[in-house]
Amino acid sequence: MMETDRLRLAPLDVPLARAVVAGDREGRAWHPEFPTEDDREACAMTLRAPDPAFGSHVVVERESGLAVGTIGCYGPPDAAGTLMIGYGLVPAARGRGYATEALRALVVHAFAQPSVREITADTLTDNVASQKVLEKAGFTHTHSTAEARWYRLNRPDKP
Ligand SMILES: CC(C)(COP(=O)(O)OP(=O)(O)OC[C@H]1O[C@@H](n2cnc3c(N)ncnc32)[C@H](O)[C@@H]1OP(=O)(O)O)[C@@H](O)C(=O)NCCC(=O)NCCS
Repeated sequence: MMETDRLRLAPLDVPLARAVVAGDREGRAWHPEFPTEDDREACAMTLRAPDPAFGSHVVVERESGLAVGTIGCYGPPDAAGTLMIGYGLVPAARGRGYATEALRALVVHAFAQPSVREITADTLTDNVASQKVLEKAGFTHTHSTAEARWYRLNRPDKP
């Protein structure tokens, strides 16, 4: 469990991932807009390959106690130590700096694992909000394709 000023990042375990994919809201502290399609995809990924060290997290707004999104890794780092991450928030929770706050916490958590040498993320070319989130969290733009812009953050102590 990670905590920031305004958020809690709760590990997405298999029972919770099943509930999200099934839309089982009973007794769950979920924002009315949660889960989005992005959240369901993150949960489906968790169910395909549960990974406590390099999995996803539910983003919980501490003030309301409600789940408002997901953030996490797309699996363990590759042989070069490159870890890929992604995130998304319900529309009502956007525009308040939450994604940046959550991403900064995830970065610290990821680099606490010695096997992670760099973190990468891609965004659709027109997803300026996500590009800003990455830049505010210290990522730099590395290259672009027709549809996407790619970003990277090196391990701070990497020579
Ligand atoms: C991308 C996303 C996670 C951003 O969440 P957020 O909590 O609103 O992000 P933050 O508030 O931390 O930062 C967003 C920044 O983008 C800016 N921004 C938002 N929409 C923008 C737009 N259309 N054009 C330019 N800048 C924009 C905000 O002003 C803010 O910058 P600032 O701090 O300099 O003012 C959210 O929009 C989202 O969930 N989108 C759908 C899923 C998605 O795209 N996930 C990422 C896939 S790569």
